[in-house]
Amino acid sequence: MKTPIAHSTMRTALLSGLLALAGLAAAAPAEASDPSPDAARQLLRGRIAFLRCAACHSLQPGEPHKTGPNLAGVLDQPAARHTDFSYTAGLRQSGLQWDAATLRRWISKPSDLVPATSMAYANTLGEAELDALIAYLASLRPAAAAAASSANPP
Ligand code: HEC
Repeated sequence: MKTPIAHSTMRTALLSGLLALAGLAAAAPAEASDPSPDAARQLLRGRIAFLRCAACHSLQPGEPHKTGPNLAGVLDQPAARHTDFSYTAGLRQSGLQWDAATLRRWISKPSDLVPATSMAYANTLGEAELDALIAYLASLRPAAAAAASSANPP
């Protein structure tokens, strides 16, 4: 520990405990690209934010759909890409692409993008939590996930 300030050391210890708890420590690439404490904190925050989505969505590639479709690698993918999930016609015909900005609008209020969507979700996440959630989803994209092959989303 380089800093002599005790409470910062405690915060770091607390953070590593939380990271271990969330399995993020194991998900971090082993060497050069170890996330900075800020990046790690952001990913942890995003992972926690995703808990409210996890009732309806799996993030694990190959896992079955729940009430909502599997979201593994969803960032930058076209909407309604799974052929074995019954999306609403509205989402299927939306032509949306899940880039960060669109995903953000979707989470903020799905029916603003697709009025008759079946995603019954009323957002309570603030701006910073939305940032963190998107950063977390971005970290799970196939390229990012390959770098952290032990990623273990909920
Ligand atoms: C109550 C269940 C429920 C919750 C909670 C929920 N979703 Fe959904 N989600 C759905 C359903 C159902 C759909 C399909 C919507 C449609 O077909 O119109 C969907 C669709 C999506 C899609 C489009 C996927 C695709 O393949 O095009 C994304 C992205 C998404 N949800 C993200 C989220 C995120 C992020 C959260 C948490 C902030 C969340 N959802 C919370 C049920 C839910």
